[in-house]
Amino acid sequence: MFFKEMSLVKTAEEIEFLRENNQLVSKTLAELAKHIKPGVTGLMLDKIAEEFIRSHGAAPGFLGYEGYPNTLCTSINDVVVHGIPNTYELREGDIISVDCGTIKHGFYGDSAFTFMVGEVAPEVKQLLKVTRESLELGVAKAVEGNRIGDISHAVQSHVERFGYSVIREMQGHGLGKNMHEEPGVPNYGKPGQGKKLIKGMVICVEPMINLGKKDIYQERDGWTIRTNDRKPSAHFEYAVAVGKGKPDILTTFEYVDKALKTKKN
Ligand code: MF3
Ligand code: CO
Repeated sequence: MFFKEMSLVKTAEEIEFLRENNQLVSKTLAELAKHIKPGVTGLMLDKIAEEFIRSHGAAPGFLGYEGYPNTLCTSINDVVVHGIPNTYELREGDIISVDCGTIKHGFYGDSAFTFMVGEVAPEVKQLLKVTRESLELGVAKAVEGNRIGDISHAVQSHVERFGYSVIREMQGHGLGKNMHEEPGVPNYGKPGQGKKLIKGMVICVEPMINLGKKDIYQERDGWTIRTNDRKPSAHFEYAVAVGKGKPDILTTFEYVDKALKTKKN
């Protein structure tokens, strides 16, 4: 038990490798933010991301992972996650979750942001705002002595207050030399339950939040996850190292926010 938990703890050097990867993902998302507008396709974004990542001496983390065919997951509107980039042209009012991974120095980066395409409906705008807030509330609990359930509950209680729902089938995860490690990080749960957090554990917190009901299904492509009720879904993801007293967030949306601010839609 002790060794199993300790094996999840990263050294300071490993955390710096993970930070470098997740900072690169953060910058890639900002590069993509500049390009997201009506008429643009997931495949166009995928090409930009792959070139950007490679030009920074890293490799795409998702490409080839369990046979995944691309650099990005581009999940539009009622697609929750794992949308495969295709030739669909974005339209005003769409939302697109862009999930991006890298690998460099043998460690992974993995973060996601949901973008608006031009003006979106107020109720969808609020879904994005609240989901992003739930991520911030969740990672704030990534401190030593807390448990996974503290993160889960922070996310769930915030989004359910607005009538949104948390999907049950997918969750966050540990991050390291593998993209998916222990512990799992559900977006629903009870405070004080689940694995204890130890300084140096690195986890991805990734609320996947539906505007309507929680039910989802996987398409026959083996990847695309869509809401049953066809209502939109939002997804934001940070990698965070558990700290003493405060979390060490390895991802930043600062670059994305800056890119969005200076962008003319
Ligand atoms: N952030 C996604 C996840 O944690 C990454 C999907 S990776 C893929 O599941 F390569 F499998 F698409
Ligand atoms: Co992830």
